[in-house]
Amino acid sequence: MNALSPQIKATTLALLVLAGILAAYSSPEIPAPSNYVTAYPAGADTLWQPPKVEDLPKNAEGGLILYGRELVAHTANYLGPKGSVKQNTNGMNCQNCHLEAGTKIMGNNYAAVFSTYPKYRTRSGSVESVVKRISDCFERSLNGVAPDSSSREMQAMIAYMKWLGHDVPKGVTPKGTGLEKLAFLDRAADPEKGRLIYQAKCQVCHGANGEGLPAPDGMAYVYPPLWGEHSYNDGAGLFRIASFAGYVKNNMPLGATYQNPQLTDEEAWDLAAFVNSRPHPHREQSGDWMDNSQKPIDAPYGPYADGFSEQQHKFGPFQPIAEARKK
Ligand code: HEC
Ligand code: HEC
Repeated sequence: MNALSPQIKATTLALLVLAGILAAYSSPEIPAPSNYVTAYPAGADTLWQPPKVEDLPKNAEGGLILYGRELVAHTANYLGPKGSVKQNTNGMNCQNCHLEAGTKIMGNNYAAVFSTYPKYRTRSGSVESVVKRISDCFERSLNGVAPDSSSREMQAMIAYMKWLGHDVPKGVTPKGTGLEKLAFLDRAADPEKGRLIYQAKCQVCHGANGEGLPAPDGMAYVYPPLWGEHSYNDGAGLFRIASFAGYVKNNMPLGATYQNPQLTDEEAWDLAAFVNSRPHPHREQSGDWMDNSQKPIDAPYGPYADGFSEQQHKFGPFQPIAEARKK
């Protein structure tokens, strides 16, 4: 019997491995929407790990990436009301919501930005670029104006996100990316219950009126505001209570993690209802979800394609809406 030559054996093995990898990625086990937990690699239970800053090349590209990271972490110093580059935003930092410069597990990290954009989003009804998505958070979460797409600032943030996701295969959302999707309560979330939890667990940092605590130089915040004129506006992702609840569950009070949360799901939902029933800056958003049937269940303002009230879309109970939509 003629033994296969070592080269052929090696090639066959390599092809088999490649086919295995392709099969794993093309048939992910959990067909969940992006931003929610999916396994990476497909089927595995490993959490995403960010690349290390120490490994950045010490050249112009590395410098641009570091500047992008700095802009995410300390946005207000550059682009806040007293920013050194432009005065374009409300004084918050991207990092306030994209924790640890967008690298924290279930802390709204940026691992899947480059693997999933450009992508179709129902809010705009169009295929969005990374620039558009970043600009959205400037206009909504930072209630301001985005830097021009050709500016060094925008280019740096893009370079940073690209580097963060450089080993994530196209189309994959690694486990631990985005925000956790909590199970619905079987009742409406309750702002009055939320108020009591807020006073006990949040007020010490975020203030009795959600105003946060500005740093002594007035450039940025030590504790960012949760409502009022300097907070995210009513078109922001966090203004939807499912996003807010997912965010606080794994990240607040400060020090909480996905591995060690400090709130129950119920507390997270009630806190979301309380904070998002306080005043937030208003954004004109009649252009969002022109196709009402695509509106998320917790979009807090009508019109809706289903018969449920604005009140129920804002606070729940969400299960009946979800079931009606399935039909
Ligand atoms: C007040 C909170 C908040 C702030 C501040 C904020 N964001 Fe966001 N951002 C969100 C939420 C919420 C989402 C959507 C997460 C989801 O639906 O899973 C999001 C999503 C994103 C995404 C898409 C991520 C993905 O994987 O699809 C990008 C990119 C982004 N933000 C960039 C930024 C940048 C850059 C800044 C600073 C200029 C910023 N954000 C500031 C809350 C915030
Ligand atoms: C020990 C102080 C502290 C406590 C207590 C605390 N937070 Fe925070 N919170 C912070 C800090 C600091 C940030 C910004 C994190 C960063 O930039 O790295 C933040 C960010 C946030 C954000 C996103 C940014 C924004 O301003 O919208 C929300 C929402 C939030 N906290 C909600 C809560 C809730 C709800 C509680 C109570 C369960 C709570 N926090 C308790 C310190 C605290």
